[in-house]
Amino acid sequence: MPTPTMEDYLERILGLIEEKGYARVSDIAEALDVHPSTVTRMVQRLDEQQFIEYERYRGLVLTAKGEKLGRAIRDRHRALEGFLRLLGVEDEEVVQKDTEGIEHHLSPSTLQALTELVVFLESRPDVMEAYRQFRNSRKR
Ligand code: FE2
Repeated sequence: MPTPTMEDYLERILGLIEEKGYARVSDIAEALDVHPSTVTRMVQRLDEQQFIEYERYRGLVLTAKGEKLGRAIRDRHRALEGFLRLLGVEDEEVVQKDTEGIEHHLSPSTLQALTELVVFLESRPDVMEAYRQFRNSRKR
């Protein structure tokens, strides 16, 4: 697995805070499958860049800037998931793995086009059905 990026950290921290109300270094380490000392280093960088703050009793919290970016990263993750599912990728593990692999490498314009394609296809069940049949006809 490639080294998690700052974006991965923000994405996970947001998820943990929403889910549990707090994000501990140990939880982040477990979620990203990295050593806690690696998390501590990244947390310091995120703090320096004012994406997160350390509060005495609450622990790690996202600043407004960090929360905004975290949400944008998550929206992008969801758009990509939706795209892969529409393509016909059914294995959820593959959907997640590939989404994580692609998401940090897309230009905003590509993401925009992809999001629009998803919206279009969702509004056109006839097109989706034609695509599904086409795929099935090629399966051996
Ligand atoms: Fe992601």
